[in-house]
Amino acid sequence: MASRVRVSICFSLLVSLLFVSSISATEEESKKEFVLTLDHSNFSETVDKHPFIVVEFYAPWCGHCKSLAPEYEKAASVLSSHDPPIVLAKVDANEEANKELASQFEIRGFPTLKILRNGGKDAQEYKGPREADGIVTYLKKQVGPASAEISSAEEASSRITGENVFVVGLFPKFSGEEYLNFTILAEKLRSDYDFGHTTDAKLLPRGDAVTGPVVRLFKPFDELVVDFQDFHVEALEKFVEVASIPKVTIFNKDPNNHPYVVKFFNSPNAKAMLFLNFSSQLFDAFKSKFDDAAEHYKGKGVSFLMGDLEASQGAFQYFGLKEDQVPLIIIQTDDSQKYLKPNLEPDHIATWLKEYMV
Ligand SMILES: *[C@@H]1O[C@H](CO)[C@@H](O)[C@H](O)[C@H]1NC(C)=O
Ligand SMILES: *[C@@H]1O[C@H](CO)[C@@H](O)[C@H](O)[C@H]1NC(C)=O
Ligand SMILES: *[C@@H]1O[C@H](CO)[C@@H](O)[C@H](O)[C@H]1NC(C)=O
Repeated sequence: MASRVRVSICFSLLVSLLFVSSISATEEESKKEFVLTLDHSNFSETVDKHPFIVVEFYAPWCGHCKSLAPEYEKAASVLSSHDPPIVLAKVDANEEANKELASQFEIRGFPTLKILRNGGKDAQEYKGPREADGIVTYLKKQVGPASAEISSAEEASSRITGENVFVVGLFPKFSGEEYLNFTILAEKLRSDYDFGHTTDAKLLPRGDAVTGPVVRLFKPFDELVVDFQDFHVEALEKFVEVASIPKVTIFNKDPNNHPYVVKFFNSPNAKAMLFLNFSSQLFDAFKSKFDDAAEHYKGKGVSFLMGDLEASQGAFQYFGLKEDQVPLIIIQTDDSQKYLKPNLEPDHIATWLKEYMV
């Protein structure tokens, strides 16, 4: 439907506004050598040739594309000597002749990066960082196995850091249908989460008394550890998606929170957003009341976010909000109605939400 498409375009605009960085596009046009330039005439043949290739769909007028370009080039030069080589390419999706290519890959905003495997039959969205070192680290992980074995305590503690979502499969042995389904899951969601597997529960944080097969998800928020034992692929996927959404998404300047913010805005749910100055004395009171509300509406199609004034200029611009309205709460329903309550007090949250949630 036309209206649905419009909403998602707006949200990708919002998402690009959210993390406006201070890095400006460098004027110097360094010699572009490592990033391959592709168009409709040679896209398929190039993608067929490389079992793993990353393609950036960009538009010449897009500012975020310009700031990405030197970082992308630098990453391409580092990755060209990786074994196996990791190839970075780009397509001008604004070019009339390339538009069919862009629509084939469902490109909705710029830049969009796709990781293509098996001649493009398997396409995943790149969800990693946008600076050179980060791109390199992220892509090295994408080219290895989707889930790597955890075989020592050192490995466990260096990989399961508690800073992001990490999904571990614990199995008596690395075979059988449960294990196979776990590897399918890891392949499918590898661009979003980190995966590992082991036969030794004692290697895992809080691993003492579990026996496999079990999938244990570590996350930096809420209950920190969740176990799951239904090994149907669809059930596993749903479990990971649901468990990795914080009860209340925190939006501040901490980049570790940004993937959850992106997820929040991409979700089809209604959205309840509370903006205030996180240094305010009332922060704890707001947080506790808002957490209660999130718990109350759990599973009812509403997502909750708390945003720090300092990090929220993009969102304020997008929703037409003013700084003197904070603390404020705004609800965006799934049919794009907006309700705003400015100058909010912690005790207002529950009653106000009740009025606007159906
Ligand atoms: C693909 O074709 C375009 C336009 O002819 C050309 O500029 C580009 O270098 C080609 N890329 C590769 C990898 O052959
Ligand atoms: C593995 O997943 C498939 C697809 O969901 C399912 O049919 C099968 O029963 C699963 N196996 C186990 C052991 O859960
Ligand atoms: C948030 O509050 C702190 C402490 O009261 C203050 O120093 C800071 O300027 C405020 N930030 C904004 C963006 O108003």
